[in-house]
Amino acid sequence: MEALVCTKLGDPTLPLTDQSSPVVFTSSHPIPPLTSSTSVRVRVVATSLNYANYLQILGKYQEKPPLPFVPGSDYSGVVDAVGDSVNLFKVGDRVCSFGSLGSFAGFIVADQKDLFLVPDGCDLVAAGAMPVAFGTSHVALVHRAHLKAGQVLLILGAAGGVGVSAIQIGKVCGAVVIAVARGTEKLQFLKSMGVDHIVDSGKESIIDSVKSFLKTRKLRGVDVLYDPVGGKLTKESMKVLNWGAQILVIGFASGEVPVIPANIALVKNWTVHGLYWGSHKIHQPHVLNDSLNQLLQWLSKGLISVNISHSYPLSKANLAFAALKDRKVLGKVMLVTGASPKSKL
Ligand SMILES: NC(=O)c1ccc[n+]([C@@H]2O[C@H](COP(=O)([O-])OP(=O)(O)OC[C@H]3O[C@@H](n4cnc5c(N)ncnc54)[C@H](OP(=O)(O)O)[C@@H]3O)[C@@H](O)[C@H]2O)c1
Repeated sequence: MEALVCTKLGDPTLPLTDQSSPVVFTSSHPIPPLTSSTSVRVRVVATSLNYANYLQILGKYQEKPPLPFVPGSDYSGVVDAVGDSVNLFKVGDRVCSFGSLGSFAGFIVADQKDLFLVPDGCDLVAAGAMPVAFGTSHVALVHRAHLKAGQVLLILGAAGGVGVSAIQIGKVCGAVVIAVARGTEKLQFLKSMGVDHIVDSGKESIIDSVKSFLKTRKLRGVDVLYDPVGGKLTKESMKVLNWGAQILVIGFASGEVPVIPANIALVKNWTVHGLYWGSHKIHQPHVLNDSLNQLLQWLSKGLISVNISHSYPLSKANLAFAALKDRKVLGKVMLVTGASPKSKL
């Protein structure tokens, strides 16, 4: 089968044919066998590229698997084989899931308890783009922050993978959504998503722009800060937070871990939530399961949608990594396998 194999740590944006590339594309990787009577083999149709996959190959992610490994976390596809005791799925079912490794390949094996049936009406490629990005934002905003209608939600990195999902979930919750992104193309895209206010972080200060918006709407401040970026943008955002605000620490795409002063958190009664979505699988698996089932329902009803700005075959994965690194992605970048159908499934 085809697969992308990480053989050493390094920059995955290098051409795959380059000797220094840390990843190798092969079309003769062994197809994984079923590993237990409840395991299911899935023919991968689409798998999404997440920032964590990029960091992991660079050697900068918290989870460092031994080399060599097949990277990749969330995916969708079609059931290809089932173990003797599998009673939840049959060959041909459309499914999606996520794991810590292994989805940048033609096939993947998972236990039936870790798979989700993709409902009729859901685009299969979109379902493969959803688990990590939408799952993170849903657990953060709904499960942790209990975001309510009318609350003001400020989203950094708003045109990226988790940012776009946070906008949509914020809208479903009825929040007033303020989106921060850089550059005209991203701003146009965010406008088309119907956010309430947009800040171009390349041109203006979050503080001035958000304060003037809040004034026109007679709002006091930001209730929930969704922060996958860190650094200077977090520092600016803290100046517009309300008394009692919640800060969702999602990631550090800027490369700079922000300092949130405890004395200010005390005086302003802020709550800081550190959120590592993947770790819920170990500590609160029911939260992840309920969340993904809810998201799949929302996707099938058209309440949320997945924007895929770039899509590449596994053999051109370096271009997908480059789109992410160069901050060109609007929503998600996907890898599709050779076996993927051209039309929507
Ligand atoms: N906690 C969790 O469980 C969890 C789950 C998923 C993702 N994350 C983390 O969330 C962060 C974003 O992930 P993502 O998938 O949304 O990534 P993404 O699609 O690449 O989006 C990241 C956004 O951050 C902004 N950014 C600001 N400074 C940047 C820089 N120096 N380099 C790159 N981007 C920069 C970019 O927006 P502008 O160009 O508009 O500024 C970009 O759109 C990552 O740190 C990731 O590890 C955490």
